[in-house]
Amino acid sequence: MPIISVDHDQQDIHYRDTGGGGVPLVLIHGFPFNSESWSPQIAGLSDRRLIVPDLRGFGETPLSAHPYTLARLADDVAEILDALSVRRAVVGGLSMGGYVTFEFWRRHRDRVAGLLLADTRPQADSDEARLNRARLATAAREEGTAAVTGELLPKLLAPVTRQRHPEIEERLRKMMNAAPSEAVAVALMAMAARDDSVPILATIDAPTLVIVGSEDAIVPPADTREWAARIPDARLDVIAGAGHVSNLERPDTFNQMVADFLDGLEAGATA
Ligand code: MLT
Repeated sequence: MPIISVDHDQQDIHYRDTGGGGVPLVLIHGFPFNSESWSPQIAGLSDRRLIVPDLRGFGETPLSAHPYTLARLADDVAEILDALSVRRAVVGGLSMGGYVTFEFWRRHRDRVAGLLLADTRPQADSDEARLNRARLATAAREEGTAAVTGELLPKLLAPVTRQRHPEIEERLRKMMNAAPSEAVAVALMAMAARDDSVPILATIDAPTLVIVGSEDAIVPPADTREWAARIPDARLDVIAGAGHVSNLERPDTFNQMVADFLDGLEAGATA
């Protein structure tokens, strides 16, 4: 997997670049996943150029020496685009990857050809959610990542996915448990400290695709509908029967939605 070094803090960032055609699509993974979570998109959108980073501490990217912010992760994505001489891309993420995508919009909007926001939310954490993150970070540090996986995993997938596709749950368990406990703790605290992105929704003037699973228990479709309506040029697609990890649970539907969105963008750009 190629790497770039982010010079100011000597951090290596690993990423996959599939090198296909069309407008490049950046896919930013959720918590505590890694770039492997986008495998069904890498396989199913093989005619597209996908740029898929491992965020700090996950997959092949080492954890930073110092805690980071989600804004820093968005800057890492911009630096990957610099390294690849990609001026503009569609930038997207799932859940925590969506939080990073909002930061990318805040900091690098001139580089955005479109946004993809999957199973995510613009709101900052409530005080209660922050306390819960701190508790989970302590559990990760004291008991290891498996303690966090054990608590989160049952909430991630739709009941039908758990029944019919136990292999998806096992794949996620393996991926989550592979995350070093300190990386999990640091990411939890970065998410707890993230800014509220609700005020920037109205500023998003790039074409935006919002996707949510109909059974997403973490970011319910009704809430998603409410915030997506505040983005001027957003389209919301609900994936029936998917939970919070819609790209893994219903990859064909997810890929078709993304392909249609990218086709529409390209048609718009040449019209
Ligand atoms: C994720 O899937 O990235 C997490 O559910 C995000 C979060 O904990 O807020």
